[in-house]
Amino acid sequence: KMNAFVSGLMKKMTVDEKIGQLNLVTGGMAITGSVTNNGIADGVKKGAIGGIFGLYGTDNVRKMQEAAVNGTRLHIPLIFGLDVIHGHRTIFPIPLGMSTTWDLGLIEQSAHIAAKEATAEGLNWVFSPMVDIARDARWGRISEGSGEDPWYGGQVAAAMVKGYQGTSLKNADAVMACVKHFALYGAAEAGREYNTVDMSKIAMYNYYLPPYKAALDAGAGSFMSSFNVVDGVPATTNKWLLTDLLRKQWGFNGFVVSDYTALNEVTNHGLGDLQTVSALALKAGLDMDMVGEGFLSTLKKSLQQGKVTMADIDLACRRVLEAKYKLGLFQNPYKSINAQKEKTDVFTDANRKAARITAEHSFVLLKNANQILPLKKSGGSIAVVGPLADNKRDMLGTWVIAGEWEKSVSVLEGIKHVVNDDVKVTYAKGANITDDTTFMKRLNFGPGMVSLDPKSPQDMLEEAVKTAKKADIIVAVVGESQSMSGESSSRSDISIPESQQLMLKALAKLGKPIVIVLFNGRPLTLTWENDNAAAILDVWAPGTEAGNAVAEVLFGNYNPSGKLTTTFPRSVGQIPLYYNHLNTGRPYSSGPTKFKSNYLDISNNPLYPFGYGLSYSKFSYSNINVSKTHLKGDEILTATVTVTNNGPYAGEEVVQLYISDPAASISRPVKELKDFKKINLQIGEKQEVTFKITPQQLKFYNSQLKYDWEPGSFIIQIGTNSADTKTAKVQWAK
Ligand code: IFM
Repeated sequence: KMNAFVSGLMKKMTVDEKIGQLNLVTGGMAITGSVTNNGIADGVKKGAIGGIFGLYGTDNVRKMQEAAVNGTRLHIPLIFGLDVIHGHRTIFPIPLGMSTTWDLGLIEQSAHIAAKEATAEGLNWVFSPMVDIARDARWGRISEGSGEDPWYGGQVAAAMVKGYQGTSLKNADAVMACVKHFALYGAAEAGREYNTVDMSKIAMYNYYLPPYKAALDAGAGSFMSSFNVVDGVPATTNKWLLTDLLRKQWGFNGFVVSDYTALNEVTNHGLGDLQTVSALALKAGLDMDMVGEGFLSTLKKSLQQGKVTMADIDLACRRVLEAKYKLGLFQNPYKSINAQKEKTDVFTDANRKAARITAEHSFVLLKNANQILPLKKSGGSIAVVGPLADNKRDMLGTWVIAGEWEKSVSVLEGIKHVVNDDVKVTYAKGANITDDTTFMKRLNFGPGMVSLDPKSPQDMLEEAVKTAKKADIIVAVVGESQSMSGESSSRSDISIPESQQLMLKALAKLGKPIVIVLFNGRPLTLTWENDNAAAILDVWAPGTEAGNAVAEVLFGNYNPSGKLTTTFPRSVGQIPLYYNHLNTGRPYSSGPTKFKSNYLDISNNPLYPFGYGLSYSKFSYSNINVSKTHLKGDEILTATVTVTNNGPYAGEEVVQLYISDPAASISRPVKELKDFKKINLQIGEKQEVTFKITPQQLKFYNSQLKYDWEPGSFIIQIGTNSADTKTAKVQWAK
């Protein structure tokens, strides 16, 4: 049906109309480059635009859709996209925080709520999920992904796609997902944004590509090409990537859009002028050009000069029209434009509650000496200090185009909501986010995001010390502001900014317990904080309900259960540092030893390993019980542990299964996550947790890029994080 419809329509289209479908422009609310589009209304009427992004709200969208449907010869509707990344109006935790919930149900739900809100404002398409694996915390966009693990990244990617697209793209509350950034964007050299990537095929297939594939298998309708080169060729003009791998090997039948002016930037990569690179991109399998109008301005000429064929243009046009067809836009171009829903379905109490619960689940308790947390809701006094405490702007994190920071809940407000009247809560800002004005200028993409307080840093510090002196406990709300992570926010120093460190150091001299509530869009280096704070609760950027969620956890209404999905290094010099690394010929054991693979000045070990996260309770693990130690072929192994809650609170634990393959045809990681279960245990409760393991989970891409498993011994590991597991050895024959 779709084929016949699209073929029929394409028969009536002129070359210009076909090229127009390949042109995506920005409506002006979302700008992430130096170029923007002018004359959009005219372009729509001329049939020179296939889609608009960055425009939302039913009035805005309706106007443009009417211009396309009523004002053009063939009445072809536009597709409306936006960077809806972790919620639309109701903002959920940043994706890195969402991933630390290890709760795929909550993750899917967050995407579904985002889809409901986005469609209520006229949108059909979201530039999410971002599934780039990242092993380098200097890269600011590590905040937008699910961390360093390929398998878990794939699970999250699939959950997001399901949440966005629902049971059918035709549903009024479904948006088409756009999987980005294809591919390998997270491996930018030195963690520097938009930088070169250079990687072996084995590393691509085993560690970086799986989440894109998982998103595709979950039915994602579109992909976005990345800014970087893949094997020397920019992704946007990379035929191997966009056609051979994505379509031929993986069977993708949706459309590919470029990143923002990525096509024009291929000229800077050194592949030729705009006409040349546009022709290359079309032939490589790019279907839609974002913002730069390379396709619009050059493809007709290239057709006349024989540099592209009509079949090349037709193929891309067909894919864009098919996406609109799949979304039901030909049946009803206004299907998501409903002024009533815009009022009732957006930023609802239910959505905010879901955002709060998700945020609570995303928090990772990094340290909790002497069970200082949870704090008591009654009696005593608490000094809340730090530049992120009485702060709404930085609660939402990166990429919140329709999010309204004024409506978010600050940590100070949240604490006041939760404690009883007999708790004395005092506040002092204590420090600027940063005192470095050059750094500040770079952070201020929008007006006034980070600013210096009118008080001098010295006065602020003294005020914080004075306030803290009178309190029993100090809650220091510190870390990164919203604009310190996300696109174009690489950092070479990933510690808490100096102004805030000075405040923490001055407070530490008081000898009172300090509870750090840490805001961050990336792993930070926290060795001093780990040594000197009584507790550290990592809350990422929690979203609209930030303060309420933080308070619920600080005061024990929810027992933290988040686990890291990125390794936290001790020093930036250890980067890249990730748990699923290969062994070397001279492995590190403990302490620097000459002629071993280690540093002279620091341990190889991270400060906090992948999978790590404490609870207010304590969970103990029995040894692993395996169903068999010798297996053959497609047999299924079951591995069971008993997990007991030995602590004083009910709580959730993420039980993690890792496997290693110590002898294979290529060097294999020291361990790899293969499964997990999040369980809930009452005080004193025990639960048997069983994993079923099949040879499918032993597979990897070998030197010939054949995906298979090899017989031999395997170490099964189950535990509370990647560095603390019980082990069992099995032999598996073919
Ligand atoms: O979707 C984004 C992408 O992640 C980075 N560059 C801009 C795009 C559109 O805003």
